Amino acid sequence: MLKKIFIKTFGCQMNEYDSNRIFDTVKKIGFERTEKYVDANCYLLNTCHIRDKAKEKVYHEIGRVKKIFREKKKPIVIVAGCVAQAENQEMLKREPYIDIVIGPQSYHKINEAILNHSKNKKKEEETEFDTISKFNYLSQIKNKDSKVSSFLTIQEGCDKFCHFCVVPYTRGPEYSRPFDQIINETKELIQSGAKEIILLGQNVNAYSYNEEGKEYRLSDLLIKLDSFDKLERIRYTTSHPKDMTDDLINVYKTSSKLMPLVHLPVQSGSNKILNLMNRKHTIEEYVVIYEKLKKINPKIEFSSDFIIGYPEEDKQDFKMTMELIEKIKFINSYSFIFSPRPGTVAADLKLVDHKESKQRLEIIQEKLFNNQIKKNKSLENKILNVLVENKMKDGIKLFGRTEFMTSVIFDGNIENIGKIVQVEIISSNQNSLFGKLTESSKKKVA
Ligand code: SAM
Ligand code: SF4
Ligand code: F3S
Repeated sequence: MLKKIFIKTFGCQMNEYDSNRIFDTVKKIGFERTEKYVDANCYLLNTCHIRDKAKEKVYHEIGRVKKIFREKKKPIVIVAGCVAQAENQEMLKREPYIDIVIGPQSYHKINEAILNHSKNKKKEEETEFDTISKFNYLSQIKNKDSKVSSFLTIQEGCDKFCHFCVVPYTRGPEYSRPFDQIINETKELIQSGAKEIILLGQNVNAYSYNEEGKEYRLSDLLIKLDSFDKLERIRYTTSHPKDMTDDLINVYKTSSKLMPLVHLPVQSGSNKILNLMNRKHTIEEYVVIYEKLKKINPKIEFSSDFIIGYPEEDKQDFKMTMELIEKIKFINSYSFIFSPRPGTVAADLKLVDHKESKQRLEIIQEKLFNNQIKKNKSLENKILNVLVENKMKDGIKLFGRTEFMTSVIFDGNIENIGKIVQVEIISSNQNSLFGKLTESSKKKVA
């Protein structure tokens, strides 16, 4: 019988990377990937625990799968990711439909878990923090991702323990992959057609790998990647302001491939709140980073994450966040109401009135979205360099991204996929730009 796995992914880019690597792994025991639930005899849900109702969302999704397979043979049901790590055994007790629970640092054991379960029908649970073995194992399996823009995890886990955040508990302590392992994987991705690589880590700029007395940092990786001819663009995410060191900032002086969008979550514009969150930096320090980068290249733009209604956030604190947005004019930012997470320091703090938090969120989002709309509008009639990623679902238009990650939808030719082309922007909305290929780009293809 053909073995088919259906993988559904919630959460951050690191989960997306993991899902692809899980697939590279299960291929070894004969699985093909399917995009249809009903065709699957193995169903894997890669979960996220960052905010509210994460757990409920998982049980809801498993309920859906149960219904789909009511009249069919039950697939092997695997829950992976951060909820699996946080809940482990509990999940198997609460939902007998689940067969295997596997945490993010145990994916190297997934084939064994599937084979064991197929043989003896016993429930399997793997939630050890075993990051070194995970990456040593994965490095022996070729990364088969063939996307124009590919993710590459270089660092896992977090030692910062911001008071609101579950990541240090679900992903474990900080771990940086060996420098050479990352370079080899970069080469594999380039060979498979990657033109852009997005280096990933929960704290990507805390990357630090020591070998023979030398420390390799994110800056070293960026410089090395910059030297690969066939690679056009390099990005990294997510960074912490505390680790935005000068060696990293200085790469912006020399690299032509490092994109001019810096995603640097600030969470709040108030030092009081940053301190209560245990963020380990001040707004003044954040602004210094911004100014240093702007001095190197005035084109550089910032994007951020904001948490609204953190316990003890008052009107003055919120005003400071609004002022910071006015100053930095972030593009493409994310904002969420604080969500108490079990096991974190902030879990039991007194919440800001929900109605008040909702109002603040609406105000901040209006400002952030307006910045985005204005920014996109200002690009109309301009010619931009776009890295073409794929065809749109309609099969006619092409999809690509600007240097600032903004989506561009335009008429083009499939030969443009994987290339940087020039697109004249005709119209825009909050999230996307729409345009047409310039005559010179058309000629290059012809
Ligand atoms: N390491 C990154 C940093 O230091 O900013 C953040 C990684 S976290 C996976 C992504 C974002 O989720 C955070 O920047 C924060 O805005 C949001 N987040 C995390 N915990 C949250 C919570 N308890 N409530 C609301 N938003 C949260
Ligand atoms: Fe979470 Fe980022 Fe803070 Fe780490 S640095 S605890 S990942 S918000
Ligand atoms: Fe979510 Fe885990 Fe990523 S909690 S945001 S999937 S690190």
